[in-house]
Amino acid sequence: MNNFELQNPTKILFGKNQIDKIENEIPKDAKILFLYGGGSIKRNGIYEQVTAALSKFQVVEFSGIPANPEYETLLKALKVIKEEKITFLLAVGGGSVIDGTKFLSAAALYKGDTPWVILAKNIRTEIGMPFGTVLTLPATGSEMNSGAVVTRSETKEKLAMGGEGLFPQFSILDPQVVYSIPQRQIANGLADSFTHVLEQYMTYPIDAALQDRFAESIMQTIIETAPKILADTTNYKAAANFMWCCTMALNGLIQKGVPNDWAIHAMGHELTALYGIDHARTLAILTKSHYLYNLETKKEKLAQYAERVWNITEGSITEKAKAGIEKTEAFFHSMQIDTKLSDYIDDYKGTAQTIAKTFMKRGWKGIGEHGTLTPNDVEKIVEMSY
Ligand code: NZQ
Ligand code: ZN
Repeated sequence: MNNFELQNPTKILFGKNQIDKIENEIPKDAKILFLYGGGSIKRNGIYEQVTAALSKFQVVEFSGIPANPEYETLLKALKVIKEEKITFLLAVGGGSVIDGTKFLSAAALYKGDTPWVILAKNIRTEIGMPFGTVLTLPATGSEMNSGAVVTRSETKEKLAMGGEGLFPQFSILDPQVVYSIPQRQIANGLADSFTHVLEQYMTYPIDAALQDRFAESIMQTIIETAPKILADTTNYKAAANFMWCCTMALNGLIQKGVPNDWAIHAMGHELTALYGIDHARTLAILTKSHYLYNLETKKEKLAQYAERVWNITEGSITEKAKAGIEKTEAFFHSMQIDTKLSDYIDDYKGTAQTIAKTFMKRGWKGIGEHGTLTPNDVEKIVEMSY
């Protein structure tokens, strides 16, 4: 096991009707910017619950943060923060609203000229403006981690940022929010969280027995929960398991002391930046190709995954590894998620070369757990996913 440091300061309030408790989590004299997305919270009652819980505070609203939070929109929110002298941010939404809020938390206290530098140079944020979240869509784990991803459609870029100052102070996780989520977004949440676990697990053995079993148990629980929550989004027990799996999949715990990959996400972000494909679906497009391309370096963990998560007992290590890859693809298909780029766009030729060039321009020499996947390898992997 590798050395590691672990500190996660986010307070989680999990369960029914926890939104009522927001009042106790925010300083009494705070001036709050209440941030949300395109309006789903106005249709499912979450908006009313949050406004009621904030009745004793000074509150300014900012709505319209789109999926894959857009830099230009966030600059408008930044202006409001400065003009209104906001002191606390409250994100009410899924990963996009929460990530947008993290960007604002960093940008509000940033001393440089343009906050784009935070993303372009991935500047770590040690201290941000304090913020809390009310999660409305389980998927990204953003509610309990310190990372964010922001899109700039003008330049077709989607870049990550983070730092220890960007953990939410608190996050409200009420599984009842799942009741109104459309099937497509539920499937996205299941696929995204599953892939988060894979990215922190599917590397090489390092005798981190507990991390392995944490990861395998999250994947098993997601597989078990998927058909239940897809069949009935108002099944509270399934919604609670779904929500907690998504949070645990990317709150830092399972990545400590083990190698991490994240190549699927690095390539996937480019597919979203180029074509606007949902984040989770970009991952489903690339997973099989990535694992087949890297079969030699990943086969021990792939075989362990096949055995422990999918109960595959027959065959050599390579055969088991390949069976694990097939099971993963079948799992995506079982949630009506297509796994080829050509299922999403007609004009896909040249995508692999474009992405490889982007990585080269950024000076990314090697990605993956060994840091050895070059832009040339990336080109081949993306091409395999056509
Ligand atoms: O905008 P509204 O109207 O609220 O609708 C949203 C949005 O259209 C809707 N929605 C959310 N909660 C709902 C609901 N609809 C009905 N009922 C509810 N309770 O769902 C749509 C998608 O929301 P979004 O926030 O975009 O989805 P998700 O949570 O999947 O977030 C995706 C973003 O997070 C980033 C992705 O790259 C992408 O930009 N990620 C963030 C990570 C992190 N911070 O750690 C890690 C991930 O790997 C990922 O990269
Ligand atoms: Zn993800």
